[in-house]
Amino acid sequence: MLVDMNTTQNPQPSARIVSGTPLAGRIAVVTGASSGIGEATAVRFAELGAKVALMARRGDRLDLLEDRIRANGGTALALPTDVTDRAAVLAAADRVADELGQADLVFANAGVQLISGITDLATADWDAQIDLNIKGVMNTVQAFVPSLESAAASGRSADLIMTSSIAAVRILEGFQVYSATKAYVTQLTKLLRTELGGKRIRVATIEPGMVDTELPDHVTDPAASKLMADLIAQIDVLSPEDVAETVAFMTSVPKHVNLTEITILPTEQII
Ligand SMILES: NC(=O)c1ccc[n+]([C@@H]2O[C@H](COP(=O)([O-])OP(=O)(O)OC[C@H]3O[C@@H](n4cnc5c(N)ncnc54)[C@H](OP(=O)(O)O)[C@@H]3O)[C@@H](O)[C@H]2O)c1
Repeated sequence: MLVDMNTTQNPQPSARIVSGTPLAGRIAVVTGASSGIGEATAVRFAELGAKVALMARRGDRLDLLEDRIRANGGTALALPTDVTDRAAVLAAADRVADELGQADLVFANAGVQLISGITDLATADWDAQIDLNIKGVMNTVQAFVPSLESAAASGRSADLIMTSSIAAVRILEGFQVYSATKAYVTQLTKLLRTELGGKRIRVATIEPGMVDTELPDHVTDPAASKLMADLIAQIDVLSPEDVAETVAFMTSVPKHVNLTEITILPTEQII
């Protein structure tokens, strides 16, 4: 593997660590593929040879991404899906199997961050985060673990990678519910390994710090939204491509190697 610093697209160069087509023959599923980290990772998986199923709610964005991946010589399938809807995720999994093949790389990435004080009792925001960040992940696990199990049993690489956050372990004011949902994801990953590791399924988390995506746009509390926007303006935050390359690396190492938890922070981020 060669390091090739790509300086053509981004103001901050994003290191492209992985080269060649180490994901050739693999069938990937990315949730939250319509923007940010999921979109960048889907693009990178396809560049590295995987066929990629794209899941999120905004079908127009997924169609554009599918076209972009195809124009670049890759294979993608847009599957507009609300991952909080268990039946819809199961139906999407059937389409992946029918149209792409047996999924062996699942990136459970869709998530939402809604910051507020607990005494604000912003219960709709609590529910939205629990429904997506916890139940959406469980729906994804339910729908795709059987195919991961079959892939691994037939000797193929099998990956279940989930997007947690540094918020899972940091104590951040206003982040109570978000952080708790991400702590769930981080702990779930460790617990899933007790059962799936022995079946040769790699289960891992990526835990980013501040990444420049749409995530802060959904925050309903104006003060919290400003705090996040200010932080993005003050330091050189990560690009979605920085995270995508890390996830690509996690999936490209030999199948007996599991990079179980990777924390990725902007160098200047101190919390
Ligand atoms: N940005 C950061 O600083 C940061 C740091 C640590 C962790 N993370 C985590 O990274 C993950 C990706 O977030 P991002 O930063 O890339 O933000 P983003 O650009 O807002 O991406 C979130 C993705 O989730 C999708 N999504 C939202 N609700 C959904 C639903 N019900 N069903 C299916 N998909 C849904 C969105 O698409 P639709 O709206 O089209 O459904 C979008 O594609 C999240 O889990 C987030 O918690 C982000």
